[in-house]
Order: sequence, then structure tokens, then C-alpha cells
Amino acid sequence: MEAEEGESHFLIQVDGETIGIVQSYEESDPMYHHAGIDIAIRSPWQRKGLGPDAIRTLARHLIDERGHHRLTIDPAAHNTGAIKAYERVGFRPVGRLRQYERGPDGTWHDGLLMDMLADELRD
Ligand SMILES: CC(C)(COP(=O)(O)OP(=O)(O)OC[C@H]1O[C@@H](n2cnc3c(N)ncnc32)[C@H](O)[C@@H]1OP(=O)(O)O)[C@@H](O)C(=O)NCCC(=O)NCCS
Repeated sequence: MEAEEGESHFLIQVDGETIGIVQSYEESDPMYHHAGIDIAIRSPWQRKGLGPDAIRTLARHLIDERGHHRLTIDPAAHNTGAIKAYERVGFRPVGRLRQYERGPDGTWHDGLLMDMLADELRD
């Protein structure tokens, strides 16, 4: 996969099988230094706590190795499962991003901006 500048992509594997992908985008402007995270797990592997585990692992890397004090994630506002998973890691809702992204049917829907400060990361 071709990565844009600042982007990193990681495969999520269980016993050698790739079950999802987790990625980060790091803002290069030092005045706004932070990283955003995105994740997708294949449906048979959802709801087993693997998403929070993968996000926690990447968040720890971004904080400890990459020096970030603030991380963001922006699920669709109606994606209650994702929001619950991210709250388990320590993310908090910041605000609603109106008509933020297009769904598969081409219509716009709202997103939810969530963020987490370094000392809010939960084990
Ligand atoms: C969102 C996602 C990363 C969460 O990871 P996960 O490993 O499933 O997270 P958890 O096991 O902690 O489950 C979190 C909640 O998600 C919901 N959920 C997850 N998979 C579900 C499924 N197949 N059907 C219905 N609800 C589901 C549940 O509400 C669950 O909470 P509960 O177990 O207390 O009921 C993962 O489900 C996923 O990749 N989904 C598809 C892509 C997506 O929505 N990505 C988010 C983009 S921001």
C-alpha cells in the first residue's frame, strides 16, 4: 500500500492471519503536533476486543516513541460500536463534524471528533 507523507499502515494479525488494518497520520506542523488513527477489522473478528487492543498498541507507540501528547479519531457519528471501542481506550467525544464524510450511497453524514491526551490512555 502506498503511504502519503506522515501516514503509517499496520496489519493486525492473529496467528499469522491478517484480520484488519490500523493506520496513523502524523501532523508535521510543530504548532499542531498530534496524530490521527483509523482502523478497520474484518467482520468475523469484530466484537472480540481486538480493535481496542490494536488502537491501544498504536496509541502507545505514537505517545512513547513518536512523542505525541494528543491523538484523534473520527468515527461516523452513528457508528456506536466504534465510539464505544474508542472510549474503552480513553478517547473522549469532542464534537460533531457536520456532513463530514460520504457513505457508500454517496450521501453526506456526520462524524464525531474524539481525542485523547497522553495521560488518558487506558490499559
Ligand atoms: C469499530 C471496530 C474497530 C471496533 O473494534 P472491535 O474489536 O469490534 O471492538 P469491541 O470488541 O470492543 O466492540 C466494541 C463495540 O462495537 C460493537 N460491535 C463490534 N462489532 C459488531 C458487530 N459485528 N455487530 C454489532 N456490533 C458490533 C458493539 O457495540 C461492541 O460493544 P459490546 O461488545 O460491548 O456490545 C471494529 O468493529 C471495526 O473495524 N468495524 C468496522 C469498520 C469500522 O467501523 N471502522 C471504524 C472507522 S472509524
